[in-house]
This record gives sequence, structure tokens and C-alpha cells, in this order.
Amino acid sequence: MPPSATAILRVAESLAHNGDTEGMWSHLRQVSLEEFGEFLIGLPNPQYPSLSRALPAMASVEVQRNWTGNSGQLLLVQTLSFVRSVQRHFPQFTGRPLEGAKILDFGCGYGRISRLMYHFTPPANLYGVDPMEESIRLCRESRMPGNFFVSDYLPESLPFSENRFDLIFSFSVFTHLSLRATRTALGTLRRYIAPDGLLVITIRPEEYWRSTTLDPSAQRTADEVLADHRRDGFAFVPHRRGTVDGDVTYGDTSLSLAWLAREFPAWRIVGQDHNPADPLQILVFLAADEKSHS
Ligand SMILES: C[S@@+](CC[C@H](N)C(=O)[O-])C[C@H]1O[C@@H](n2cnc3c(N)ncnc32)[C@H](O)[C@@H]1O
Repeated sequence: MPPSATAILRVAESLAHNGDTEGMWSHLRQVSLEEFGEFLIGLPNPQYPSLSRALPAMASVEVQRNWTGNSGQLLLVQTLSFVRSVQRHFPQFTGRPLEGAKILDFGCGYGRISRLMYHFTPPANLYGVDPMEESIRLCRESRMPGNFFVSDYLPESLPFSENRFDLIFSFSVFTHLSLRATRTALGTLRRYIAPDGLLVITIRPEEYWRSTTLDPSAQRTADEVLADHRRDGFAFVPHRRGTVDGDVTYGDTSLSLAWLAREFPAWRIVGQDHNPADPLQILVFLAADEKSHS
């Protein structure tokens, strides 16, 4: 019978206490992803003082709600559903396991999903970027091990030299970007993916517009925005925010797979998955199309 999660965590605690970081990680990876996530959302934990020093403190409930609209157990269930989907599809589309992969979290926020990626890869292989300085400040304040940097809202490049990521994922980011920010980010990310790597993004389908309440400041009806989507394959309603180089880069966005395929021939759509926690947020899996790389 395999040792219980508690027994494994106790060994990891004593390894962390003795400064054996590698041993600590290899034990932490022996608990299930669900147990690992559960443990992380409870940190710091006075029963595990050394692990609490070695692992990131969980973000406050307020930060979790502000960045992701939910918190605690409910949010963990949603995060696990996304990460399990990525874990399942990565080998299917790349022929390799996720373990040990070089991973980039694009629009990482306070590091919600990155935290679970420690279950698969050493912190040195984990990168996260976000253009909101407060996001990266929160990652650093909670002492997330790995590489977390502020990026540009219209990123022509990323703030590091690593450019062969096995996996780039971006949850609830392309559901919010303007046309210009979407084009810039997807074009730039293409230069950072390994030839056999996988990009996972989430998008909103056209049904989104009739399920949501538009900010009155947008002065648009759901039917008008839906018409944009049906005509162009892309629709965007900006939030009330400042501009970046003349563009309000953030709001609510829907886009179609046909639009993605047409606009980005250097990316090949290889699959999609539904998100049980949010049926109107679809996961799209993209591979680098070598034939049409610019
Ligand atoms: C809804 S939050 C999701 C955060 C994180 N991906 C998660 O799921 O926990 C959207 C994130 O996108 C970031 N963001 C905003 N504009 C961006 C841009 N132009 N490029 C990349 N990320 C952006 C925000 O700062 C924010 O952290």
C-alpha cells in the first residue's frame, strides 16, 4: 500500500528542514496533484514550518477573488481541471510527458496555476510573465520559486533569453485582450515555443455575449457585439481603463477557431477541450507549424 500523503509530507518537511531541496521536491511530487494543490492553498501551515518557508504562501482570499473571481477550494477545483487537461493533452500532442518540461505561464497573475506546475517540473524550468506590476510583485512577495517577470501589454519580446518552451499556457488572458494585444502576443509567443512544443490558451465562444452583462460604459448591446463576432470572427469590448500606445488592451473578448487559423498560420490548432467549471471558456491547443513559420 502506498504511503499516505501525510506520511510523504512529513518526510518532505524533514528534508526541507535539512536543506535537501531536491529531495523535498521529489517527495512532494509523490502526492497526487489534488493533494499537492490542497497542501499549497493551506500555506503557510504551522504543522510544516520548513515546507512553509520553502514553498510559496498562498495569496489572500481578496487577491484570489480579484484576479480570478473565486477562491479557496472552489477555485482549486477549477485550477485542477485546467491543469489535468493540460497534463493529459501535452503527451498526446508532443509525444513527451509534461514532467521536466520548460514551462511559461503567460499572464500568470499571482501564480495560481504556476503553483501546480511545480508538481511536474523544477522551479528553474518555470517562467511566468504578466504586464501588471502588481501581479509579479505578488508572485515575488509570496516567494514563488522560479522566474517571474513583468512583461509589456503589447509584447514584441519577452524579458528573458529562454526561447524554447515545451509548454506555454495562458488561462483567462486571450479572453480579455484587444485585437492588437492578441495579434502581438500570439505572434511573439510563436518565437518562444520549442519546435515540438505546445501552446494552450483559453477563448470565449460567441455564446459568451448573451450570457454576460456588458459594462454600460461600453455602450454596446450583446447583439451588436455578437454581430461583430459573426462578421469578423473576433469581438472585443474594452474595460474602462487607460490606453497603452493608444490601445485599450484589456476587456472582454471572443474569437473563433476559424479566425485563429486564418490570422496565425504559424500556429496549427491541434485540439480543444471544454472546461467543466466554465463551459464558455474553451481550451485551445496549438502547435508550431514549421512549414509556415515567418
Ligand atoms: C483573469 S486574470 C488571469 C490570471 C491567471 N492566468 C490565472 O488564471 O490565474 C488575467 C491576467 O492577464 C494579465 N494581462 C492583462 N493584459 C495582458 C497582456 N496584454 N498580456 C498578458 N497578460 C495580460 C492580467 O494582468 C491578469 O493577471
